Amino acid sequence: MSPFRLTRTLPEDATGAALRADVLAGLTSTPKWLPPKWFYDARGSELFEEITALPEYYPTRAEREILVDRAGEIAAATGARTLVELGSGSSEKTRILLDALTGLRGYVPVDVSESALTQAGQALVSERPELRVHALIADFTGGLTLPETPGPRLVAFLGGTLGNLLPGERAAFLAAVRALLSPGDALLLGTDLVKDEGVLVRAYDDAAGVTAAFNKNVLSVINRELEADFAPAAFEHVALWNAEREWIEMRLRSRTAQTVKVQALDLAVDFADGEELRTEVSAKFRQEGVRTELGAAGLELAHWWTDGEDRFALSLSVAR
Ligand SMILES: C[S@@+](CC[C@H](N)C(=O)[O-])C[C@H]1O[C@@H](n2cnc3c(N)ncnc32)[C@H](O)[C@@H]1O
Repeated sequence: MSPFRLTRTLPEDATGAALRADVLAGLTSTPKWLPPKWFYDARGSELFEEITALPEYYPTRAEREILVDRAGEIAAATGARTLVELGSGSSEKTRILLDALTGLRGYVPVDVSESALTQAGQALVSERPELRVHALIADFTGGLTLPETPGPRLVAFLGGTLGNLLPGERAAFLAAVRALLSPGDALLLGTDLVKDEGVLVRAYDDAAGVTAAFNKNVLSVINRELEADFAPAAFEHVALWNAEREWIEMRLRSRTAQTVKVQALDLAVDFADGEELRTEVSAKFRQEGVRTELGAAGLELAHWWTDGEDRFALSLSVAR
């Protein structure tokens, strides 16, 4: 069995420092906000996996359908010898690509969640003894340096995670991805599409309350890491469609007027009754918008594939 390598690209305390900076900036802003990457401790990664199996959460099933239909074409178009996956999580759908990419020598999953990387990486090397897996604990928004691996490289960014970045962050992220690509490399991007509001809202507000638990998990992360005293039950999960921005917003609404202490920051945060804290946006896309955003980053859309119900798209693009 080839060894599974796990590399931390950031110093041990960098994650803590980034969390402190984000919590300080977000909880002292009006309106309050937090970046979605802090959902994903071990519990958050588990809850996300539960979300992907919910009847209301169509994106994972729709993207899997496209991967099953198009993996052969993706393999033929890219001839990839290294697959880099940003925000790889459980790498569950990735197995479809790993099966199809017959010339593949190595897989480089990149995620902030160490638990997700370890679980997925160990399973993959035991299932596929020929595959070299070099996982990176890294923030994909923070200037990635990839290990030396054979080209061509296929960089995959699945799950609609691009939509969790705000427009300015998306532009910077896509430009950074473009800078990682050499001639012959490609980007495989999964984007959720604009659709009926009811379908979208239900995908982020399921009947079983799993997404609500996922949303509130960020409060548990802050309690544990920054000695805060959030009472998750004192907040209500909210998912709403912003028609102007064409994104879903997840928020936590304070059920009462309350003050939360964040001891590690020596901070007291007042919430008014009904005040909302934005925890995630999930932008939904149209083909022309994706083409334009890719183009602005120096990438050219070469293929656009959707599932049978046009719910989700996978695109393949190359450096211009
Ligand atoms: C929406 S989930 C998608 C997971 C998987 N790609 C899928 O399609 O099911 C987002 C993943 O990106 C990771 N993630 C979120 N923000 C990140 C960041 N800034 N840098 C690296 N990984 C991040 C999370 O830990 C999580 O595994």
